[in-house]
Amino acid sequence: MSDLQVRRVRFDFSGADVPFNWNPERPAFAVQCNLVSFFAPGFEKFIVDATREAIPLMPNPADAEEADLYLRQEAQHSAAHRSHIRALVRRWPGLQETVDEVIASYDQLTATKSLEWRLAYPAIVEATFTPYFKVFLDHEDKLFRPGDERVSSLFIWHFVEEMEHRSSALVVYNAVHNDYRYRAKTIPSVVKHLNEIMRIVIRGFKAHVPAEDGGDIAALLPEGVSFKTIRESRQVAKRLQEPGQATYDGVPKRELVAMIVGLVRSQGPRFDPADERLPVLAERWFERYDEDPNSAARWYSVGRSGSTR
Ligand SMILES: [Fe+2]
Ligand SMILES: [Fe+2]
Repeated sequence: MSDLQVRRVRFDFSGADVPFNWNPERPAFAVQCNLVSFFAPGFEKFIVDATREAIPLMPNPADAEEADLYLRQEAQHSAAHRSHIRALVRRWPGLQETVDEVIASYDQLTATKSLEWRLAYPAIVEATFTPYFKVFLDHEDKLFRPGDERVSSLFIWHFVEEMEHRSSALVVYNAVHNDYRYRAKTIPSVVKHLNEIMRIVIRGFKAHVPAEDGGDIAALLPEGVSFKTIRESRQVAKRLQEPGQATYDGVPKRELVAMIVGLVRSQGPRFDPADERLPVLAERWFERYDEDPNSAARWYSVGRSGSTR
């Protein structure tokens, strides 16, 4: 039996005061999270659609049950990111176009790609989340705590639930199409699509959020993964960030090496996300949610301290 829990967390993004640069102490991290928010509704809808289609094909009822809980968690994430995006769109209306473009791109995949490809995509991407997000949660004191609490809480919740369901996308893929070689072969086309979405979102940020409103931090993200774009964003970082404000500043080198090793391992044939070690903050988050569900939306001001240290 799956022990995934579907939690309905609602964040108060009702005001028009949600900052674009929600953590000025770590601007590159803030804009990276904004990018995740703009990915989320399209990507998570894509997952929900593919997983719904896969469930009737799954021979093992326990796998089907996990798939159902996983897609319901993703639907909750999508709803929360939509409310974050709505707050940003109220202030910078042009961003609506950006989110529409992202959703249209994922809908196009749903309409044109095989079910195997659409299940391989999240299996590939979600396997990277535990090593990738672990560093963020382990350094919560620098990356989340100094920022806007509503936005911080949204990302902490999303990242811990990604870890909770870290095996689910692979379970679904393997139940329907247990073929490692096909999954590995799919990686380049998935990376190509992720790059496309990155370009859409970063161009949208640059076009619709004025520099004086914090929009200049969009230039800290490379428009895709190429030598040229990464070099350009590093040059901008020198101008827009103070020393010590880079996303991974203060993160020990061995943790960064472990993250990179984890990302590479996550695509290997014998990798099982269930074996991954969870950050202390993830364990604490689940406990605190059970004690007081209100802590999820306001991690730093409800109940006791949310620090990991
Ligand atoms: Fe999610
Ligand atoms: Fe996920």
